[in-house]
Amino acid sequence: MNLFDVYPLNNIEITKASGSTVWDANGQAYLDLYGGHAVISIGHTHPHYVERLTTQLNKVGFYSNSVLIPLQVELAEKLGKVSGKKDYHLFLCNSGAEANENALKLASFYNGRKKVIAFKGAFHGRTSLAVSATDNPKIIAPVNETDNIVFLPHNDEAALSAAFTKYGSEICAVIIEGIQGVGGIKEASVSFLQQIRALCDQYNAVYIADSVQCGYGRTGLFYSHDYAGVEADVYTMAKGMGNGFPVAGISISPKFKPWHGMLGTTFGGNHLACAAALAVLEIMDQDQLMQNAEKVGSYLIEELKKIEGVKEVRGRGLMIGIELPESLPNVKKDLLFKHHIFTGEAKPNVIRLLPALNLNKEQADHFLNEFKIALKG
Ligand SMILES: Cc1ncc(COP(=O)(O)O)c(C=O)c1O
Repeated sequence: MNLFDVYPLNNIEITKASGSTVWDANGQAYLDLYGGHAVISIGHTHPHYVERLTTQLNKVGFYSNSVLIPLQVELAEKLGKVSGKKDYHLFLCNSGAEANENALKLASFYNGRKKVIAFKGAFHGRTSLAVSATDNPKIIAPVNETDNIVFLPHNDEAALSAAFTKYGSEICAVIIEGIQGVGGIKEASVSFLQQIRALCDQYNAVYIADSVQCGYGRTGLFYSHDYAGVEADVYTMAKGMGNGFPVAGISISPKFKPWHGMLGTTFGGNHLACAAALAVLEIMDQDQLMQNAEKVGSYLIEELKKIEGVKEVRGRGLMIGIELPESLPNVKKDLLFKHHIFTGEAKPNVIRLLPALNLNKEQADHFLNEFKIALKG
């Protein structure tokens, strides 16, 4: 049997990893500023993480949501504290798409409506409704097509007002990333998020903050949406939550009342997933990783803005987009194969930095030096 060939692969096999360094099968070291797509939050093979997972695996790795799992309660308490949403409730699942799917479903159960507002450039995942709310017709299969999603231009306050005037109480939810990731590191403006909050309140629609990529402390705040000073009704999270162990969740405002069977999953919130998520939050808290993300990220952004040849630098904390001119199409590839630095990308020519939140200044400086050389070709 062969693999179903859906991923364009770099010809590199990673055999060892530690912190923000990974090594290939030939022993070549790479600086990892991609974190396997914003997933590595506390660094590869962090000793506390490895220890907590190993200890848990030796006790019990998995049991379903038919028994008491005190680790889930511990995780909810810790997440409430670190995220500043102590009165919210946690539902655990397994991936970013599943988190968004559940958030949209919860919204629809709540107000009985169907229409969802999403934005140009958005990426919310590949499951049925999440992919319908994703602005990429190529990955929407005919069976996923629906009239329930209304796409609006990003950060366009007049268009948002007009949509609420037109659809009014048909609108179930507004789903928005605090900073679009796949869309090229585009931040939702403070006034736009405030307007979403106000209109959702006015029409009893649900404000869903997709924090799958921009959340979990990456920008210096736990949820990047909270820069706007207003709270969402539901925050979805995944990627950084388990530092590589598949775990995701939704943080739900107390206004939603659960009933048995309303949401569910076999694997979500299993013992190992909770141990991984707890290890991440413990390290984030203990080592003040949100503060570090803010500090090292601001430094990187400031320095990148000084570099000649860069079209634009966008983002916050350690979620950074470097837009390059069309005349420099090979920088990402060169960074990887000549300078041994992993980065992400977005169309048309944006380099995305999504490193672990404990990236240090020396590593940032190493990148800046190599990047300047790579720009010269
Ligand atoms: C903002 C956002 N939402 C949702 C997802 C989907 O997450 P997953 O791939 O874990 O399903 C992603 C993945 O890149 C994302 O960036």
